[in-house]
Formats: sequence, structure tokens, C-alpha cells
Amino acid sequence: MILFNRGFMEKDDAIVDIEDRGYQFGDGVYEFIRVYDGVCFEMERHVQRLKLSALKIELALPYPLEDITRNLKQLVEKNGLLNGYIYAQITRGVAPRAHHFPGSASSVLVAYVQHAERPVEKTTHGIHAILTEDIRWKRCDIKSLNLLPNVLAKQLAKKHGCDEAIMHRGATVSEGSSSNVYMVEKNVIYTHPINNLILNGITRIGVLEMARENGFRVVEEAFTVNELLETEEVFITSTAMEICPVVQVDQTQIGSGQPGRVTRTLQQAFEHRIALNSGGN
Ligand SMILES: Cc1ncc(COP(=O)(O)O)c(C=O)c1O
Repeated sequence: MILFNRGFMEKDDAIVDIEDRGYQFGDGVYEFIRVYDGVCFEMERHVQRLKLSALKIELALPYPLEDITRNLKQLVEKNGLLNGYIYAQITRGVAPRAHHFPGSASSVLVAYVQHAERPVEKTTHGIHAILTEDIRWKRCDIKSLNLLPNVLAKQLAKKHGCDEAIMHRGATVSEGSSSNVYMVEKNVIYTHPINNLILNGITRIGVLEMARENGFRVVEEAFTVNELLETEEVFITSTAMEICPVVQVDQTQIGSGQPGRVTRTLQQAFEHRIALNSGGN
């Protein structure tokens, strides 16, 4: 079953209009939400970010956020989803093709679920990443449907046998193609500050909370590619990859080449949060 505006229907019965502005212009926003043991993880933060992304592109929600939240939870139930994701997108709707906003179109919400196991192998052993120039626009804070630069960066990583592309604007590391990036030096965790150049990751918010709870100092300041390559630990975070160690960047081994101690501590704290989440519904 999928969610189409307010209604639930079979996936094969849903029709995307060729003049939907999401399809033609990428004119819309989305969220990707993790479900653990049948319970949505960080649901409130995700729907609040969806609302904020919509606001930033002057897109009206098709109906109130409380109802969207309730319908997304129902979608999980109707599909009997235990472990996986919800993908939800809102576009500016259907109108004859013209760049400016249409006068009359109503925004369109589509959401569906994907069954998926947790990325245990990668979070346990760590991944390899490549470096690539960040060629995106200057509103990376908006979780918009325009993902072509991210797609190209991820494809480049794949071509090199890597799992993530760490992007940089000139010498400054911004974020991953679909993740936030951190480095650890002498028990201090560094990550790019929240501004228009990165996405305010929901996992990032939780990780920084857990870091502080565990007594680590957090410095939200940009760092350089050279600093990244010479640091003790690197990790990325995202809804899909959770907290994942990066043990090699391009040809450079990071630290000992094994997941680091601080990363491991944060992963343990994250497990605790997932367990607490699964306990409540
Ligand atoms: C560009 C980018 N940065 C960061 C993230 C991490 O965000 P979150 O933790 O909310 O999944 C994502 C997730 O898809 C992303 O696409």
C-alpha cells in the first residue's frame, strides 16, 4: 500500500501525472524516515524538517502536519513494516509546464515504505570513501528533490568501489553525498556547522546530543580536506547508514584503519536510543 495525498491505495493503482512539477522540475521536498521494530524513529524531527523544507520553497503542505504524521504511521502499520524506511515526498502539484509557480495547483503527497535490514556489516567494519568537489547549489539545507549532484557523487564513489563520496567546497569539507561527516581528534568531535551549505541531518542532531551526554566536546566548525586525512577517526551519519566509521578516504588510511573508540561509543549510545524507541509507540 502507498499513501497518495490522504488516501491509501495499491502501488500499481497510483498514477504520476507527467505534468507533476516534481517530475518535471524536481519542484518538491522529501523525507526518509527509519522504522525499527515497527516504530518510526525520530518521527517528530523528520516531519518538522519536512515542514521547514516546504516553507523554504514556499510550498504549502497538502494538509496539516499532524494528519500527515498520523497517515505515515498508518502506512507503516498497513504494510506490516518492521524494519525499513518510509519515503515521503511533496511536490508543487500538476500544472501546464512553466517555471514560475502555478496559480492553482495543489501540492501532492506520495509516501511508500521499503523493507530493509540495518547496515550492520558496514557499521561494524567501516567503509571507504572518496573525496569529490561539492558542486551543489547554495541551499543544501533544503531537503529538495533535486539530487543530481548527490547522485553523480555517489556514482563516482561506487565506480571507485567506495560507499560514500565526501564532498568539499575548495579545501573545506561540507558533507557526504547522503550523509553528514565528522572527524575526531583528541576526544573532540568536529563537524560542519548548520547553515545553507549542508543538510541539518536528523541523525546528526541525535549524535551531537549523545556526544555531549557522553562527555565529548563537540565543535561545529568546518575543517579542511587535509585535516580530515590526518585525523584519528572519521565517521558519517544518516538515516540509512546510522553511525558509520570511515576507515579510508581516497588512498589514505584513517587512524589505525579500524573503527575508532569515539565512534564505537556513539554507536553504543545509538543502540540504546533505538531500544528506547522500540519500547514506545
Ligand atoms: C546530503 C545529505 N546530508 C545529510 C544527510 C543525513 O540526514 P539524516 O540524518 O536526516 O538522514 C542526508 C540524508 O539523506 C543527505 O542526503
